[in-house]
Amino acid sequence: MKPRMARLDPHSYNDSAQPEARSLALRARVDLSAKTLEAEAELSFSGPASGRLDLDTRELSIEAVEDGRGARLPFTLHPSEPILGSRLSIELPADTRAVRIRYRTSPSASALQWLEPEQTHGKREPFLFSQCQAIHARSVVPIQDTPRIRIRYRAELWVPRRLEAVMAAAPVGRREEGEWAVESFEMPQPIPPYLLAFAVGDLAAAELSPRSRVWAEPPMLERAAREFGGVEEMIRVAERLFGPYEWDRFDLLTMPPSFPYGGMENPRLTFLTPTIVAGDRSLVNVVAHELAHSWTGNLITNANAEHFWLNEGFTVYAERRILEALEGEEMCALHAAIGRRSLEEAIVRFERHPELTRLRTHLSGVDPDEAYSQVPYEKGYLFLRTLEEAVGRDAFTRWLRRYIEELRFQSITTEDFERHIEGELPGALAKADAKAWLDGPGLPRNAPAPRSSRLEAIESLGGRVPEREMVASWTPAEWQLYLESVPKPAPLEACRALDERYGLTRSGNYEVLVSWLSLAASSSYRPALPKIEQVLGEVGRMKYLRPLYAALARDPETRPLAHQFFERYRQGYHPIARQVIHSVLSPA
Ligand code: BES
Ligand code: ZN
Repeated sequence: MKPRMARLDPHSYNDSAQPEARSLALRARVDLSAKTLEAEAELSFSGPASGRLDLDTRELSIEAVEDGRGARLPFTLHPSEPILGSRLSIELPADTRAVRIRYRTSPSASALQWLEPEQTHGKREPFLFSQCQAIHARSVVPIQDTPRIRIRYRAELWVPRRLEAVMAAAPVGRREEGEWAVESFEMPQPIPPYLLAFAVGDLAAAELSPRSRVWAEPPMLERAAREFGGVEEMIRVAERLFGPYEWDRFDLLTMPPSFPYGGMENPRLTFLTPTIVAGDRSLVNVVAHELAHSWTGNLITNANAEHFWLNEGFTVYAERRILEALEGEEMCALHAAIGRRSLEEAIVRFERHPELTRLRTHLSGVDPDEAYSQVPYEKGYLFLRTLEEAVGRDAFTRWLRRYIEELRFQSITTEDFERHIEGELPGALAKADAKAWLDGPGLPRNAPAPRSSRLEAIESLGGRVPEREMVASWTPAEWQLYLESVPKPAPLEACRALDERYGLTRSGNYEVLVSWLSLAASSSYRPALPKIEQVLGEVGRMKYLRPLYAALARDPETRPLAHQFFERYRQGYHPIARQVIHSVLSPA
């Protein structure tokens, strides 16, 4: 009888009966003019393997497949399927220890953004970066692209010698060969493939602490170093809460403005949008979030995208514990209130897909990028808060530390989580009504409400324009909460008063700025249009593009503008952002 085969991840061709790769050796030449990687990937197994091996690929041209000793192996590259890409099937003879694949990536690889010099801070050199989460690693390397299967890796990147290459791994040296620099890296801890990451460009570094430095293009470096100067204190607080930091270094990379996310927790080298460099450290909760993933996510990973809340819900919880320790309960409550509002918006956005508002989801045939929302983040956070309230903070924190300690370097499902907490804190799940949280849609009735006197003060305004004395002490978080509480559309006079009195269109804090611009766009407040266009043209962070395009598209008068702006700026957006904005503007 044939072994039973099963797909344990709806987003991978990997079959649980097949051999699993343990390590990867990658060599890639970065061709910035052709926008391709010319590469060789060697996947090694833990023992002798045989039979069929199915790898995930997307838009790769496969040139040759060999075993570890250089003997050619027969392979089939199947036609591309939606979401998954192309299955690469390789027949392994008995006793195969490794497969070596020579291939080339496509200029439209979904994980890569190739930037022209004008799209960078320095404007002089091109830039390349990868963004593999959730299922884009396969457009860079043929691999078992499922977080179930962790690998260690070594990598060698060949880049033009005037540039730097950085990777989410330990650097082990740079040598120069003619026009080329060869940068080598090693990742000794096993990681899920979505954490494979690199960037190439004109990069420089500044030291922040003995285990942390920030990388940026030279014109950004000083500002970035000031913004992130508190990182060591953050790491210490996080270690006190969650146990030792396991990844040796916590370096930061300030990305060009087109980076589609706020941050990405690539191990040893978190990628950060430059929009959080506000000048006053007011947006460093994003750093706390990516740091928190070093425990919740990178140490304990969701086994597939259906359990994404285990990554993000736990990380938002951990992020806010760090924030609470550093900035106090009130600040933490304000952030939770902002999160709560974004959750309510996401639930409305998914009105016709309530199944995507569960924590435990079913995603066969669903693209994780399409399912992405604040639900796993903020509903996950609230669920963990509910559990915390059910058992008390001390017991919950003790459980969390044991959960991290016992499941580290594993990839788990919601069922594994349930088993673990039920074993340690019997009855907690029932007491918190876990069933409703995990498998029910929307927001369960027992959701804890954010409470803070500052929040109440904002709510008592009922959207009216606040007096100067009141806002004198407002933090950016309060401004954001206030602006999001104003019913839309707001009267034009109110928009004018707000803008003229408080200079919102000039705000240097992107969260405040975009909350304001969304309100302005939803209220047809025309003086804000040039700034809206400027943001859409300069910034590629989806969190900002989405509400601005959506607000412009909602009003029949500005709808044509939304399409014009998209035509004008789409070339500069990341492939994933382009896809998302396309679906905002032309809903199915
Ligand atoms: N891992 C995510 C980013 C991500 C998620 C990339 C899914 C691709 C697919 C990262 O940790 C994140 O959540 N970033 C947030 C920041 C935050 C919640 C403070 C973001 O980008 O806005
Ligand atoms: Zn996250």
